[in-house]
Amino acid sequence: MKGKILVTGGAGYIGSHTTVELQAVGYEVVIVDNLSNSRAEVIDNIEKISGIRPAFEQVDCNDKAALDAVFKKHSGIRGIIHFAASKAVGESVEKPLLYYRNNIVPLVNILELMPIHKVEGFVFSSSCTVYGQPDAKNLPVTETAPILPATSPYGNTKQIDEEIIRDTIHASVPFKSIILRYFNPIGAHPTAEIGELPNGVPQNLVPFLTQTAMGIRKELSVFGNDYSTPDGSCIRDFINVVDLAKAHVVAVERMLNNKSKANLEYFNLGTGRGVSVLELINAFEKSTGVKVPYKIVARREGDIEQIWANPRYANEVLGWTAVETIEDTLKSAWDWQLKLRERKIM
Ligand SMILES: NC(=O)c1ccc[n+]([C@@H]2O[C@H](COP(=O)([O-])OP(=O)(O)OC[C@H]3O[C@@H](n4cnc5c(N)ncnc54)[C@H](O)[C@@H]3O)[C@@H](O)[C@H]2O)c1
Repeated sequence: MKGKILVTGGAGYIGSHTTVELQAVGYEVVIVDNLSNSRAEVIDNIEKISGIRPAFEQVDCNDKAALDAVFKKHSGIRGIIHFAASKAVGESVEKPLLYYRNNIVPLVNILELMPIHKVEGFVFSSSCTVYGQPDAKNLPVTETAPILPATSPYGNTKQIDEEIIRDTIHASVPFKSIILRYFNPIGAHPTAEIGELPNGVPQNLVPFLTQTAMGIRKELSVFGNDYSTPDGSCIRDFINVVDLAKAHVVAVERMLNNKSKANLEYFNLGTGRGVSVLELINAFEKSTGVKVPYKIVARREGDIEQIWANPRYANEVLGWTAVETIEDTLKSAWDWQLKLRERKIM
Protein backbone atom coordinates (compact mmCIF):
# COMPACT_ATOMS: atom_id res chain seq x y z
CA MET A 1 0.00 0.00 0.00
CA LYS A 2 1.21 3.46 -0.93
CA GLY A 3 -0.82 5.22 1.75
CA LYS A 4 -4.26 6.65 2.34
CA ILE A 5 -5.97 9.21 0.15
CA LEU A 6 -9.11 11.01 1.29
CA VAL A 7 -11.49 11.52 -1.61
CA THR A 8 -14.28 13.97 -0.83
CA GLY A 9 -17.25 13.51 -3.13
CA GLY A 10 -15.91 10.04 -3.92
CA ALA A 11 -19.38 8.58 -4.47
CA GLY A 12 -19.94 11.12 -7.24
CA TYR A 13 -19.17 10.93 -10.92
CA ILE A 14 -15.48 11.87 -11.20
CA GLY A 15 -14.68 10.85 -7.61
CA SER A 16 -15.83 7.25 -8.10
CA HIS A 17 -13.75 6.82 -11.26
CA THR A 18 -10.75 8.36 -9.53
CA THR A 19 -11.15 6.04 -6.56
CA VAL A 20 -10.92 3.03 -8.89
CA GLU A 21 -7.74 4.40 -10.50
CA LEU A 22 -6.14 5.18 -7.13
CA GLN A 23 -6.90 1.66 -5.92
CA ALA A 24 -5.45 0.21 -9.13
CA VAL A 25 -2.02 1.62 -8.30
CA GLY A 26 -2.09 0.68 -4.63
CA TYR A 27 -3.59 3.60 -2.69
CA GLU A 28 -6.07 2.99 0.12
CA VAL A 29 -9.05 5.27 -0.41
CA VAL A 30 -11.27 6.85 2.23
CA ILE A 31 -14.40 8.38 0.71
CA VAL A 32 -16.30 11.20 2.37
CA ASP A 33 -19.62 12.02 0.74
CA ASN A 34 -22.97 13.29 2.01
CA LEU A 35 -24.75 11.56 -0.93
CA SER A 36 -26.47 14.83 -1.85
CA ASN A 37 -25.82 14.02 -5.52
CA SER A 38 -24.96 10.32 -5.46
CA ARG A 39 -26.02 6.94 -4.08
CA ALA A 40 -24.53 4.60 -1.51
CA GLU A 41 -24.51 1.71 -4.05
CA VAL A 42 -21.64 3.43 -5.83
CA ILE A 43 -19.37 2.09 -3.09
CA ASP A 44 -20.48 -1.49 -3.95
CA ASN A 45 -19.91 -0.82 -7.63
CA ILE A 46 -16.41 0.53 -7.04
CA GLU A 47 -15.68 -2.70 -5.17
CA LYS A 48 -17.02 -4.75 -8.10
CA ILE A 49 -14.46 -3.14 -10.40
CA SER A 50 -11.40 -3.03 -8.16
CA GLY A 51 -12.09 -5.92 -5.79
CA ILE A 52 -11.35 -3.51 -2.94
CA ARG A 53 -14.00 -1.80 -0.84
CA PRO A 54 -13.05 1.81 -0.12
CA ALA A 55 -13.75 3.07 3.39
CA PHE A 56 -16.87 5.23 3.27
CA GLU A 57 -17.97 7.95 5.67
CA GLN A 58 -21.30 9.65 5.06
CA VAL A 59 -20.30 13.09 6.20
CA ASP A 60 -21.09 16.61 5.03
CA CYS A 61 -17.85 18.52 4.44
CA ASN A 62 -19.53 21.63 5.86
CA ASP A 63 -19.32 19.86 9.23
CA LYS A 64 -15.76 20.48 10.36
CA ALA A 65 -16.02 18.43 13.57
CA ALA A 66 -17.28 15.42 11.62
CA LEU A 67 -14.42 15.81 9.11
CA ASP A 68 -11.93 16.04 11.94
CA ALA A 69 -13.31 12.78 13.30
CA VAL A 70 -12.75 11.15 9.88
CA PHE A 71 -9.07 12.18 9.94
CA LYS A 72 -8.73 10.74 13.45
CA LYS A 73 -10.50 7.49 12.60
CA HIS A 74 -8.48 6.96 9.40
CA SER A 75 -5.14 8.18 10.68
CA GLY A 76 -2.24 8.58 8.27
CA ILE A 77 -4.08 10.22 5.37
CA ARG A 78 -1.30 11.46 3.01
CA GLY A 79 -3.30 13.24 0.37
CA ILE A 80 -6.73 14.71 -0.33
CA ILE A 81 -8.62 15.05 -3.56
CA HIS A 82 -11.47 17.48 -3.01
CA PHE A 83 -14.32 16.81 -5.43
CA ALA A 84 -17.27 17.50 -3.11
CA ALA A 85 -19.12 20.54 -4.42
CA SER A 86 -22.28 21.62 -6.17
CA LYS A 87 -21.69 21.86 -9.90
CA ALA A 88 -24.70 22.95 -11.94
CA VAL A 89 -24.15 26.30 -13.66
CA GLY A 90 -27.88 26.99 -14.21
CA GLU A 91 -28.85 26.07 -10.64
CA SER A 92 -26.10 28.32 -9.29
CA VAL A 93 -27.71 31.30 -11.03
CA GLU A 94 -30.99 30.53 -9.22
CA LYS A 95 -29.48 29.53 -5.84
CA PRO A 96 -26.21 31.44 -5.49
CA LEU A 97 -25.94 31.16 -1.71
CA LEU A 98 -26.24 27.38 -1.82
CA TYR A 99 -23.22 27.44 -4.12
CA TYR A 100 -21.23 29.96 -2.10
CA ARG A 101 -21.74 27.87 1.04
CA ASN A 102 -21.22 24.40 -0.37
CA ASN A 103 -18.30 25.24 -2.62
CA ILE A 104 -16.37 27.39 -0.18
CA VAL A 105 -16.97 26.34 3.46
CA PRO A 106 -15.87 22.69 2.94
CA LEU A 107 -12.67 23.89 1.24
CA VAL A 108 -11.79 26.13 4.18
CA ASN A 109 -12.57 23.32 6.64
CA ILE A 110 -10.26 20.92 4.83
CA LEU A 111 -7.39 23.38 4.41
CA GLU A 112 -7.59 24.16 8.15
CA LEU A 113 -7.56 20.49 9.09
CA MET A 114 -4.72 19.44 6.78
CA PRO A 115 -1.75 20.75 8.82
CA ILE A 116 -3.28 19.40 12.04
CA HIS A 117 -3.40 15.92 10.51
CA LYS A 118 -0.11 16.27 8.62
CA VAL A 119 -1.59 15.72 5.18
CA GLU A 120 1.08 16.25 2.50
CA GLY A 121 -0.87 17.12 -0.64
CA PHE A 122 -4.16 18.61 -1.84
CA VAL A 123 -5.68 18.19 -5.31
CA PHE A 124 -8.52 20.54 -6.13
CA SER A 125 -11.26 20.03 -8.74
CA SER A 126 -11.43 23.28 -10.59
CA SER A 127 -13.01 24.01 -13.91
CA CYS A 128 -12.40 25.70 -17.22
CA THR A 129 -15.22 28.03 -16.17
CA VAL A 130 -12.53 30.05 -14.33
CA TYR A 131 -11.44 31.37 -17.75
CA GLY A 132 -14.92 32.77 -18.45
CA GLN A 133 -15.31 33.28 -22.20
CA PRO A 134 -11.72 33.56 -23.44
CA ASP A 135 -10.91 35.93 -26.33
CA ALA A 136 -10.50 34.15 -29.66
CA LYS A 137 -6.74 34.78 -29.48
CA ASN A 138 -6.59 32.74 -26.24
CA LEU A 139 -8.25 29.65 -27.73
CA PRO A 140 -7.29 26.89 -27.11
CA VAL A 141 -6.81 27.95 -23.51
CA THR A 142 -3.50 27.58 -21.72
CA GLU A 143 -3.02 27.84 -17.96
CA THR A 144 -1.73 31.39 -18.37
CA ALA A 145 -4.87 32.68 -20.10
CA PRO A 146 -6.47 35.50 -18.11
CA ILE A 147 -9.01 34.60 -15.46
CA LEU A 148 -12.00 36.62 -16.66
CA PRO A 149 -15.07 37.62 -14.65
CA ALA A 150 -17.09 34.48 -14.02
CA THR A 151 -20.31 34.06 -15.99
CA SER A 152 -22.11 32.27 -13.13
CA PRO A 153 -22.00 31.97 -9.33
CA TYR A 154 -20.67 28.42 -9.85
CA GLY A 155 -17.74 29.74 -11.90
CA ASN A 156 -17.17 32.42 -9.31
CA THR A 157 -16.96 29.86 -6.50
CA LYS A 158 -14.21 28.03 -8.40
CA GLN A 159 -12.31 31.31 -8.87
CA ILE A 160 -12.67 32.14 -5.17
CA ASP A 161 -11.61 28.59 -4.24
CA GLU A 162 -8.48 28.92 -6.35
CA GLU A 163 -7.67 32.23 -4.64
CA ILE A 164 -8.19 30.65 -1.21
CA ILE A 165 -5.80 27.84 -2.12
CA ARG A 166 -3.25 30.27 -3.59
CA ASP A 167 -3.25 32.45 -0.46
CA THR A 168 -3.08 29.43 1.83
CA ILE A 169 -0.08 27.97 0.01
CA HIS A 170 1.54 31.42 -0.09
CA ALA A 171 1.34 31.47 3.72
CA SER A 172 3.84 28.55 3.78
CA VAL A 173 1.55 25.80 4.95
CA PRO A 174 3.27 22.41 5.22
CA PHE A 175 1.59 20.87 2.16
CA LYS A 176 1.55 21.14 -1.63
CA SER A 177 -1.39 21.65 -3.90
CA ILE A 178 -2.29 20.96 -7.51
CA ILE A 179 -5.28 22.67 -9.06
CA LEU A 180 -6.80 20.70 -11.94
CA ARG A 181 -9.00 22.67 -14.32
CA TYR A 182 -11.30 20.18 -15.98
CA PHE A 183 -12.94 20.78 -19.28
CA ASN A 184 -16.09 18.65 -19.87
CA PRO A 185 -15.88 15.13 -18.48
CA ILE A 186 -18.20 12.61 -20.14
CA GLY A 187 -18.58 8.84 -20.48
CA ALA A 188 -18.41 6.04 -17.96
CA HIS A 189 -16.14 3.25 -16.78
CA PRO A 190 -15.71 0.57 -19.49
CA THR A 191 -17.24 -2.03 -17.14
CA ALA A 192 -20.42 0.13 -16.97
CA GLU A 193 -20.40 -0.43 -13.18
CA ILE A 194 -20.04 3.30 -12.47
CA GLY A 195 -20.95 6.40 -14.46
CA GLU A 196 -22.68 9.73 -14.16
CA LEU A 197 -25.96 9.55 -12.26
CA PRO A 198 -27.01 12.87 -10.82
CA ASN A 199 -30.01 12.93 -8.51
CA GLY A 200 -33.04 14.44 -10.27
CA VAL A 201 -33.08 15.98 -13.73
CA PRO A 202 -29.53 16.00 -15.15
CA GLN A 203 -28.01 19.44 -15.63
CA ASN A 204 -25.14 18.06 -17.71
CA LEU A 205 -25.47 17.35 -21.41
CA VAL A 206 -24.53 13.68 -21.72
CA PRO A 207 -26.70 12.16 -18.96
CA PHE A 208 -29.63 14.17 -20.32
CA LEU A 209 -28.78 12.95 -23.81
CA THR A 210 -28.58 9.25 -22.84
CA GLN A 211 -31.78 9.50 -20.79
CA THR A 212 -33.50 11.05 -23.81
CA ALA A 213 -32.14 8.34 -26.11
CA MET A 214 -33.57 5.81 -23.64
CA GLY A 215 -37.00 7.49 -23.77
CA ILE A 216 -36.89 8.66 -20.14
CA ARG A 217 -36.91 12.31 -21.26
CA LYS A 218 -39.00 13.52 -24.19
CA GLU A 219 -36.34 15.58 -25.93
CA LEU A 220 -32.96 17.08 -25.39
CA SER A 221 -32.80 20.88 -25.29
CA VAL A 222 -29.89 22.43 -27.16
CA PHE A 223 -29.42 25.85 -25.58
CA GLY A 224 -28.94 28.21 -28.52
CA ASN A 225 -27.97 27.76 -32.18
CA ASP A 226 -27.12 31.41 -32.78
CA TYR A 227 -23.67 31.52 -31.19
CA SER A 228 -20.67 32.60 -33.29
CA THR A 229 -19.57 29.02 -33.89
CA PRO A 230 -19.62 27.06 -37.17
CA ASP A 231 -22.98 25.37 -36.43
CA GLY A 232 -24.27 27.95 -33.93
CA SER A 233 -24.20 25.64 -30.89
CA CYS A 234 -21.73 25.92 -28.00
CA ILE A 235 -18.31 24.32 -28.28
CA ARG A 236 -16.71 22.33 -25.47
CA ASP A 237 -13.73 20.05 -24.91
CA PHE A 238 -15.29 16.71 -23.93
CA ILE A 239 -12.87 14.52 -22.01
CA ASN A 240 -13.30 10.86 -21.09
CA VAL A 241 -13.86 10.50 -17.35
CA VAL A 242 -11.38 7.63 -16.97
CA ASP A 243 -8.69 9.68 -18.71
CA LEU A 244 -9.55 12.50 -16.32
CA ALA A 245 -9.46 10.18 -13.29
CA LYS A 246 -5.97 8.99 -14.23
CA ALA A 247 -4.67 12.57 -14.18
CA HIS A 248 -5.58 12.73 -10.48
CA VAL A 249 -3.39 9.73 -9.73
CA VAL A 250 -0.47 11.38 -11.52
CA ALA A 251 -1.09 14.61 -9.58
CA VAL A 252 -1.18 12.78 -6.24
CA GLU A 253 2.06 10.91 -7.02
CA ARG A 254 3.74 14.13 -8.14
CA MET A 255 3.03 15.80 -4.80
CA LEU A 256 3.71 12.83 -2.54
CA ASN A 257 6.96 11.97 -4.34
CA ASN A 258 8.09 15.62 -4.35
CA LYS A 259 8.50 15.68 -8.12
CA SER A 260 7.68 19.36 -8.39
CA LYS A 261 9.63 22.26 -6.95
CA ALA A 262 6.58 24.54 -6.84
CA ASN A 263 4.18 24.20 -3.93
CA LEU A 264 1.21 25.11 -6.13
CA GLU A 265 0.63 24.11 -9.74
CA TYR A 266 -2.23 24.46 -12.21
CA PHE A 267 -3.08 22.10 -15.08
CA ASN A 268 -5.74 22.18 -17.79
CA LEU A 269 -7.23 18.74 -18.33
CA GLY A 270 -8.77 18.45 -21.76
CA THR A 271 -8.23 16.78 -25.10
CA GLY A 272 -7.31 19.87 -27.09
CA ARG A 273 -10.28 19.38 -29.42
CA GLY A 274 -13.36 21.61 -29.51
CA VAL A 275 -16.59 19.76 -30.34
CA SER A 276 -19.96 21.47 -30.70
CA VAL A 277 -23.08 20.27 -28.92
CA LEU A 278 -24.66 19.37 -32.28
CA GLU A 279 -21.51 17.48 -33.31
CA LEU A 280 -21.66 15.57 -30.04
CA ILE A 281 -25.26 14.52 -30.66
CA ASN A 282 -24.24 13.33 -34.15
CA ALA A 283 -21.26 11.41 -32.81
CA PHE A 284 -23.52 9.71 -30.26
CA GLU A 285 -26.01 8.67 -32.92
CA LYS A 286 -23.19 7.35 -35.13
CA SER A 287 -21.42 5.37 -32.44
CA THR A 288 -24.55 3.82 -30.88
CA GLY A 289 -27.02 3.76 -33.79
CA VAL A 290 -29.60 5.33 -31.44
CA LYS A 291 -31.46 8.51 -32.40
CA VAL A 292 -31.71 11.43 -29.98
CA PRO A 293 -34.78 13.66 -30.33
CA TYR A 294 -33.70 17.23 -29.67
CA LYS A 295 -34.96 20.77 -30.04
CA ILE A 296 -33.20 24.11 -30.17
CA VAL A 297 -34.23 26.39 -27.32
CA ALA A 298 -33.10 29.82 -26.08
CA ARG A 299 -29.60 30.31 -24.76
CA ARG A 300 -29.11 29.39 -21.08
CA GLU A 301 -27.91 32.06 -18.68
CA GLY A 302 -24.34 31.51 -17.53
CA ASP A 303 -23.25 29.39 -20.52
CA ILE A 304 -19.93 30.14 -22.20
CA GLU A 305 -19.98 30.21 -26.01
CA GLN A 306 -16.86 28.24 -26.80
CA ILE A 307 -13.90 26.91 -24.94
CA TRP A 308 -11.41 24.12 -25.37
CA ALA A 309 -8.08 23.30 -23.79
CA ASN A 310 -4.50 23.50 -24.78
CA PRO A 311 -3.43 20.47 -22.71
CA ARG A 312 0.27 20.66 -23.64
CA TYR A 313 1.45 21.65 -20.17
CA ALA A 314 -0.30 18.64 -18.57
CA ASN A 315 0.98 16.41 -21.39
CA GLU A 316 4.58 17.51 -20.92
CA VAL A 317 4.88 18.19 -17.21
CA LEU A 318 2.49 15.59 -15.78
CA GLY A 319 3.24 13.10 -18.55
CA TRP A 320 -0.52 12.62 -18.91
CA THR A 321 -2.59 12.67 -22.11
CA ALA A 322 -6.27 12.04 -22.79
CA VAL A 323 -6.35 9.02 -25.13
CA GLU A 324 -9.95 7.86 -25.52
CA THR A 325 -11.94 8.81 -28.64
CA ILE A 326 -15.21 10.68 -28.41
CA GLU A 327 -17.03 7.79 -30.11
CA ASP A 328 -15.81 5.19 -27.59
CA THR A 329 -16.53 7.60 -24.77
CA LEU A 330 -20.12 8.20 -25.91
CA LYS A 331 -20.56 4.45 -26.35
CA SER A 332 -19.44 3.99 -22.73
CA ALA A 333 -22.05 6.54 -21.61
CA TRP A 334 -24.71 4.58 -23.50
CA ASP A 335 -23.57 1.24 -22.01
CA TRP A 336 -23.89 2.86 -18.59
CA GLN A 337 -27.43 4.02 -19.39
CA LEU A 338 -28.28 0.45 -20.49
CA LYS A 339 -26.85 -0.84 -17.21
CA LEU A 340 -29.06 1.59 -15.26
CA ARG A 341 -32.07 0.14 -17.05
CA GLU A 342 -30.90 -3.42 -16.32
CA ARG A 343 -30.59 -2.45 -12.64
CA LYS A 344 -34.06 -0.80 -12.84
CA ILE A 345 -32.60 2.47 -11.59
CA MET A 346 -33.57 4.51 -14.67
N1 LIG B 1 -18.67 17.13 -14.09
C1 LIG B 1 -18.22 18.25 -14.63
O1 LIG B 1 -18.64 18.63 -15.73
C2 LIG B 1 -17.18 19.09 -13.93
C3 LIG B 1 -16.42 20.03 -14.66
C4 LIG B 1 -15.48 20.81 -14.01
C5 LIG B 1 -15.30 20.68 -12.64
N2 LIG B 1 -16.05 19.78 -11.95
C6 LIG B 1 -15.87 19.68 -10.50
O2 LIG B 1 -15.48 18.35 -10.18
C7 LIG B 1 -16.01 18.00 -8.90
C8 LIG B 1 -16.74 16.68 -9.00
O3 LIG B 1 -17.77 16.80 -9.99
P1 LIG B 1 -18.71 15.56 -10.35
O4 LIG B 1 -19.11 15.77 -11.77
O5 LIG B 1 -18.08 14.30 -9.94
O6 LIG B 1 -19.95 15.91 -9.43
P2 LIG B 1 -20.90 14.93 -8.58
O7 LIG B 1 -22.05 15.76 -8.13
O8 LIG B 1 -21.19 13.69 -9.33
O9 LIG B 1 -19.97 14.57 -7.36
C9 LIG B 1 -19.84 15.40 -6.25
C10 LIG B 1 -20.05 14.54 -5.02
O10 LIG B 1 -19.87 15.36 -3.88
C11 LIG B 1 -20.90 15.10 -2.97
N3 LIG B 1 -21.06 16.33 -2.18
C12 LIG B 1 -21.53 17.54 -2.58
N4 LIG B 1 -21.49 18.40 -1.56
C13 LIG B 1 -20.97 17.74 -0.49
C14 LIG B 1 -20.67 18.09 0.83
N5 LIG B 1 -20.92 19.32 1.31
N6 LIG B 1 -20.15 17.15 1.65
C15 LIG B 1 -19.91 15.90 1.21
N7 LIG B 1 -20.18 15.50 -0.05
C16 LIG B 1 -20.70 16.42 -0.88
C17 LIG B 1 -22.11 14.72 -3.80
O11 LIG B 1 -23.03 13.91 -3.09
C18 LIG B 1 -21.46 13.97 -4.94
O12 LIG B 1 -21.37 12.58 -4.67
C19 LIG B 1 -16.86 19.18 -8.45
O13 LIG B 1 -16.07 19.98 -7.61
C20 LIG B 1 -17.15 19.91 -9.74
O14 LIG B 1 -17.37 21.28 -9.53
C21 LIG B 1 -16.98 18.97 -12.57
